[in-house]
Amino acid sequence: MRLKDCHNFQDFRKLAKRRLPGPIFNYIDGAADDETTYDRNTQAFRDCDLVPNVLTGVADIDMSVTVMGQKLDMPIYCSPTALQRLFHHDGERAVAAAAEKYGTMFGVSSLGTVSLAEVRKKHKNPQCYQFYFHKDRGLNRAMMESAKEAGVEVMMLTVDSITGGNRERDLRTGFSIPFRLTLGGVAQFVMKPMWGINYVTHEKFAMPQLDEHVDMGSGALSISRYFTEMLDPSMTWDDVAEMVKFWDGQYCLKGIMSVEDAKRAVDIGCTGIILSNHGGRQLDGSRAPFDQLAEIVDAVGDKIDVIMDSGIQRGTHVLKALSLGAKAVGGGRFYLYPLAAAGQAGVERALGLMRTEIERDMRLMGCKSVADLSRANLRFR
Ligand code: LAC
Repeated sequence: MRLKDCHNFQDFRKLAKRRLPGPIFNYIDGAADDETTYDRNTQAFRDCDLVPNVLTGVADIDMSVTVMGQKLDMPIYCSPTALQRLFHHDGERAVAAAAEKYGTMFGVSSLGTVSLAEVRKKHKNPQCYQFYFHKDRGLNRAMMESAKEAGVEVMMLTVDSITGGNRERDLRTGFSIPFRLTLGGVAQFVMKPMWGINYVTHEKFAMPQLDEHVDMGSGALSISRYFTEMLDPSMTWDDVAEMVKFWDGQYCLKGIMSVEDAKRAVDIGCTGIILSNHGGRQLDGSRAPFDQLAEIVDAVGDKIDVIMDSGIQRGTHVLKALSLGAKAVGGGRFYLYPLAAAGQAGVERALGLMRTEIERDMRLMGCKSVADLSRANLRFR
């Protein structure tokens, strides 16, 4: 199987599985507890049908959207994710370049493996900064100042990760950063020598957003230790309100699920909210963002940009979310499998296929622009 044989999400997933050592593949592919929320996220789109209109003159399609002040040429962006250089040695560099080619936003994570300033300088498409709230308030301010200085457009605070999710696949493999694998985990690395060769022959693994400010020491800082030791579980709305003021620009919260919280986000001056359950990786059993979307759009859609992620695999999923009132959608695994499968070429192929799907689906729906999509185009079963 090669990149040109990949036509959809599942194909990219298969190719990524072939290329990545098991512990890394399972880190991307896995979710919390019984992974029921992970399954539901995509299933939610299947419980709702599209109702097309015809004969509307669809020669020219405009799928661009404006969200949090950013014009995107397509309504899906590459949501910020951690550790991208572990998945492919070009990591964030590949994703930023591919997203630029398709005119959409990408993100760099606090746990990113390339400096946010480096990619901001190199590309002109909008960039967001995925942020966690650390116990050390000085660190929070310093990290935000670095992002401001670099010219990052959108601040994206993750609010669904107050503690690490129970990722049992990672417990089994011993996945942590740097590696501290179980014996079984080590064996799985030995089986993918190409990955290992690329890993050791490219720039040493680093997390520049944190390294700049924190002495990580030589110990293994596992993702779950980062969550439990460095992040502040006592964070409240007042803390976030202060950050929103300090940032003084486009600021969104990722992981809002209730109407009450959506309203609070409006009250503290956020410009966007992202309905998300972190791709099912945090609270298993939590509702799918698509199931919750209409309620939130009805409550705050005229005051704040409502976005959603989690479970999006197809152009029709994007159209369903937009029809319900989302301003744009984010994807994570959607570009991570392609990144792992083939680096920048993989991400470009995934974005290109998605663009083609959205364009075809909009034509078949009789919609020339995203503004033509409405709830009249949807029926729930
Ligand atoms: C994860 C965190 C790091 O989902 O965002 O693994």
